[in-house]
Amino acid sequence: MTPAAYAVFNQDAVQHNLSQVRRCAPHAKVMAVIKANAYGHGLLRMAIALQQIDAFAVARVDEGVQLRKAGFDNRIAVLEGFTCAEELEKLLHYQLEPVVHSPTQLDVFEAGTGTEPGACAIWLKLDTGMNRLGFKAQHFHFAHQRLSRCARVKQPINLMTHFANADDCNDDKTLKQIDLFRQTVAGLAGERSLANSAGILGWAQSLSDWVRPGVMLYGISPFPESTGRQLGLIPAMELHSRLIAVKPIDAGDSVGYGGTWTCAKPTTLGVVAIGYGDGYPRHAKVGTPVLINGLRVPLIGRVSMDMITVDLGSQTQAKPGDPVTLWGENLPVEEIALWADTIPYTLVCGVTRRVQFIEKNADF
Ligand SMILES: Cc1ncc(COP(=O)(O)O)c(C=O)c1O
Repeated sequence: MTPAAYAVFNQDAVQHNLSQVRRCAPHAKVMAVIKANAYGHGLLRMAIALQQIDAFAVARVDEGVQLRKAGFDNRIAVLEGFTCAEELEKLLHYQLEPVVHSPTQLDVFEAGTGTEPGACAIWLKLDTGMNRLGFKAQHFHFAHQRLSRCARVKQPINLMTHFANADDCNDDKTLKQIDLFRQTVAGLAGERSLANSAGILGWAQSLSDWVRPGVMLYGISPFPESTGRQLGLIPAMELHSRLIAVKPIDAGDSVGYGGTWTCAKPTTLGVVAIGYGDGYPRHAKVGTPVLINGLRVPLIGRVSMDMITVDLGSQTQAKPGDPVTLWGENLPVEEIALWADTIPYTLVCGVTRRVQFIEKNADF
């Protein structure tokens, strides 16, 4: 029997997507971004799929600690860095590599309190125009000098920046960011890292010692106008469920909460066991495609917590128990994101804990 909402994780797809990263950036080391529970795919599941990677990147210290406790000894960068001496102690203890982006962090390094021995490899971040984390160019060298004198900072200091608009290949802001980075770090020792997935796929000028792919490793396009498939990637996650009810409805019947969709002519309604409680987007519009027995049928009515409704058409052979695909092979998550007025990142990140993951080709 097909279970209710479940996700299929495709480890081979991840390997394939990594090979695409290496093809685009043959001379770069790869820092795989697996923050936010590996974009909803499962932190440890993804780390296992990428065991040989040069480094992982997570957002928060605790995500790095989780990887260490699970036995991963790869380099691990912590993209949000730290805010206090206690967190720096943890970073040192677990040999995590913080991004250093604020004067507060310089103060903590200089205070030199704490008992953990050794020094931290760090990633000093230049804000080249994202205006989120990082030192502005005019403060960067002073920060670098201060860090160069800290006993707890491993030398040479690694250097990085992050792009704001790289997913728009016509926006020259990325070129300006690349130029500012190169000018500002010229002459400094240390390895450099600029490119996220959009940089790797769209901005060859941004390739450097390290690349930091996130979304493309999961088989998803960073660009709004394309799918991962069109870029030679394979989706690492498929979201499935099953039909739990099939019934005729008449012209004039309205469907679901608020009665927002009214049937124009007699048809067959299908009820699928998936909803926003599983991470299916609440804002998916009427018409969002759903795959049932290999055929696309449109979502109708509002998405509810545990169920969605679809129009199976008057001639359908579908029956309760039939398998349903919400995204995956033949139904790109990028397409569903457009129907839900969002980006595919939020859809995969939003898959909730009650969705059971299985490995591709595994039995239930
Ligand atoms: C600093 C940094 N580098 C790299 C990435 C990976 O980005 P993407 O998933 O678009 O490849 C992220 C993700 O948000 C990030 O914050």
